Amino acid sequence: MHSTVAILGAGAMGGALASGLLRAGWEKNEISMAVRREERRRELIERTGCAVSLDPVEALDGKEVAVVAVKPRDVPHLLTQIQGAYRPGQVILSLAAGVPTRLYEASLGEAPVVRAMPNTPALVDEGITGLAAGRFAGQEALARAERVLSAVGQVIQMEESLLDAVTAVSGTGPAYAFLLAEALTEAAVREGLPRQIAERLVHQTIKGAGALLVETGLSPFELRAQVTSPGGTTAAAVHVLEERGFRALVEDAVRAAGDRSRELGARAEEDGER
Ligand SMILES: NC(=O)c1ccc[n+]([C@@H]2O[C@H](COP(=O)([O-])OP(=O)(O)OC[C@H]3O[C@@H](n4cnc5c(N)ncnc54)[C@H](OP(=O)(O)O)[C@@H]3O)[C@@H](O)[C@H]2O)c1
Repeated sequence: MHSTVAILGAGAMGGALASGLLRAGWEKNEISMAVRREERRRELIERTGCAVSLDPVEALDGKEVAVVAVKPRDVPHLLTQIQGAYRPGQVILSLAAGVPTRLYEASLGEAPVVRAMPNTPALVDEGITGLAAGRFAGQEALARAERVLSAVGQVIQMEESLLDAVTAVSGTGPAYAFLLAEALTEAAVREGLPRQIAERLVHQTIKGAGALLVETGLSPFELRAQVTSPGGTTAAAVHVLEERGFRALVEDAVRAAGDRSRELGARAEEDGER
């Protein structure tokens, strides 16, 4: 049996989740959504056939799971909107980067809150989500939340304290892969390859390398060793990347994303206290 789901804030991530749920077999009448703009409301109704409201209270009404997918800075305002309409037992499933479960508990009481960090490959059912229970979320709430997010990819349960790191690694991760794709394509064009060919080579190489990582069970180090012969081309390229500080750069980038996630959460909490 599917949980009925209200998606409060059906933008890029919330809209992707709604489409994923429909692909996974949820019925249109099991999903409702809320947005702010009339134009977006009409677009979603046309695309999904679900009920879409400009009022989050209307979308929330009677639903078993409320997915919060507004920007972190918009969470406090959303909470003041739904506070009076929230019914005990409704599971709050927050996707907002950095926002702690205690912010929801402070406003909704002993609510079962589950905090999650998905990523955009959810759009093609290849997402991965870190999931953590708040103080009042038991096994049933976790199972409901996991079932919803499993519609668009894999789910890993963990302690809430790890979620800012998840944001920095897999939440933000697709952008790192896209930046690598851009840089590699430009380098390919500089090496004389026509752009169309360069793009095909790069996109399929990244997809193929990902498939090898997931499907062989070998470590990235082992897979890299397989294609690195002494004095060969890969050795020459990797030497440049290592010498110019590739690893340190990645480490600093991930640290910056984690710090930003903590900052966004702290700001949402400050706003919530005002
Ligand atoms: N995108 C990602 O890669 C990603 C990954 C993991 C987690 N997340 C998290 O997902 C959340 C949403 O991100 P996003 O990229 O999807 O943002 P987005 O595209 O800006 O979507 C936010 C949506 O919330 C709606 N909204 C804001 N306040 C509202 C309110 N009070 N009532 C009803 N609707 C409201 C907006 O409506 P209008 O469109 O009408 O303005 C918009 O559709 C963020 O908290 C983010 O941290 C995103």
